Amino acid sequence: MDGGGGERWSAVADAWAELWGSLASPVWPPLLAAAQVTTGTRVLDVGCGTGELVGHLVRAGAVASGVDPAPAMTRRAREQHPGATVRGGDVEHLPFDDDAFDAVLAVNSLQFADHVDDALAEVARVLAPGGRVGLACWAEGARNDLDVVERAVAEAYEEDVPPDGPLRAPGGLESALAGGGLEVVAAGVVDVPWTVPDDDGLVRGVLLGEDERTMAELAPTVLAAAAPFRASGGGYRLANAFRWAVGRAP
Ligand SMILES: C[S@@+](CC[C@H](N)C(=O)[O-])C[C@H]1O[C@@H](n2cnc3c(N)ncnc32)[C@H](O)[C@@H]1O
Repeated sequence: MDGGGGERWSAVADAWAELWGSLASPVWPPLLAAAQVTTGTRVLDVGCGTGELVGHLVRAGAVASGVDPAPAMTRRAREQHPGATVRGGDVEHLPFDDDAFDAVLAVNSLQFADHVDDALAEVARVLAPGGRVGLACWAEGARNDLDVVERAVAEAYEEDVPPDGPLRAPGGLESALAGGGLEVVAAGVVDVPWTVPDDDGLVRGVLLGEDERTMAELAPTVLAAAAPFRASGGGYRLANAFRWAVGRAP
């Protein structure tokens, strides 16, 4: 899925939770440490999806909130994590008061904002003075095995592969934070391997959001492109990376 839109994400909520929901978990420890999230910290996860990070925040003792424009995503996050506040909304219109949070996180979601500058201005509004913003997203395509498979799919359709967005390049997240008036305090790159147990999971994960006919048509392309990433114990393991950065508000 490369587009935003609550309805599109709602339609894939269950498959997202099953196949992708934990992908970003290796980035959570450094992101939360640099954002100084600890017991009692008021944290908002923007674009929380099916709520895996929200659950992690609850377990860490934070006062956890999540927001996402996709109703099926927020419904699932709410059901799974009743200890958190989860609301519907997008990053440019956050349904929370000014200065409501000590930290705001956006993992694999800021790229869907219509305007990153406006999104970060809205994040700054709900952030208390001196609060921290933690961002994470896919690193540049060259670092990701998934890119190899997505290129094969694009070629099958004789489509151009969309270029990496500015957030994915080295320094991209830091530039966005600085552009939003935040002082960058930490940044890094983390391995986020994607594992699936079988061919079916691979095809449904890569082609998330496509209809069944398209999945059947493209399955041979996906399987051939992913052959180098077969895991010795079965299924597939694609090596990928996320970049992350944390900024501090004045
Ligand atoms: C790739 S998923 C990531 C979900 C979750 N953060 C994770 O790491 O599993 C992107 C999420 O961003 C949400 N999203 C799309 N457009 C958005 C926007 N304008 N503002 C906030 N979230 C948005 C989608 O509904 C979806 O749940």
